[in-house]
Amino acid sequence: MRPFVAGNWKMNNGPIRGKAFFEEIKKFPLERAEVVIFPPFITIPYVKKLAEEKGISLGAQNAYWRKEGAFTGEISLEMLIEAGVDYVLVGHSERRNIFGESDEEINLKLKAVLRAGLRPVLCVGENLAEREEGRTREKVRFQLDADLSGIVPTDVIIAYEPIWAIGTGKTATPEQAEEVHAFIKEYLGNVRVIYGGSVKPENAHSLMAQPHVDGVLVGGASLKPASFYDIILAGIKAFEEKG
Ligand code: 13P
Repeated sequence: MRPFVAGNWKMNNGPIRGKAFFEEIKKFPLERAEVVIFPPFITIPYVKKLAEEKGISLGAQNAYWRKEGAFTGEISLEMLIEAGVDYVLVGHSERRNIFGESDEEINLKLKAVLRAGLRPVLCVGENLAEREEGRTREKVRFQLDADLSGIVPTDVIIAYEPIWAIGTGKTATPEQAEEVHAFIKEYLGNVRVIYGGSVKPENAHSLMAQPHVDGVLVGGASLKPASFYDIILAGIKAFEEKG
């Protein structure tokens, strides 16, 4: 098994910087990892060829679940397929909290992504208050139940992203991540579970060394090829050691 190392660029790296990233990452060997980048929509067509040449898959950070029509500002799954996307992030905490996405909507999106033949990455995770009150499992279980209603869970990659660890520099300890990942796998069966939240070259190895951590979803540290590559290397090493 190879580590699944994904970069969520969020609202960074437009076409010019996006292309520069792919030109730069060309020189690093990536074959021993499964690498996916989630650029902003507008960047995708500009980097598709470079990504393909390098064996990097592309994902979208969001998509609308309806097929077509009067939905100003939205992007359909058919459009994403045309642009050469393989993965779609669904239910990122920024979509939930800043843009008010509900679990019902997330469930519709997941179903639409699977119907379109693309691979969804569903983000779940607790906020600081929920963790401090000892309600982490309860929150994650609630999201999994609501978001995956009517869906075969093994078709979905789960990203465990504790909200208190996103963009804060506060990473979950490897033990905290392991505990929730083991719970998710016990609850859903044989799903891939990746960790996200302040992943950096310095902590990537200890996180991916955990038995139930199948990879990482990296925000800030995925914007620069050198730090992203160091995370990929850490994952390769951890997976070799895990066997
Ligand atoms: P950071 O790595 O910047 O904390 O972001 C994590 C994230 O939200 C990835 O989807």
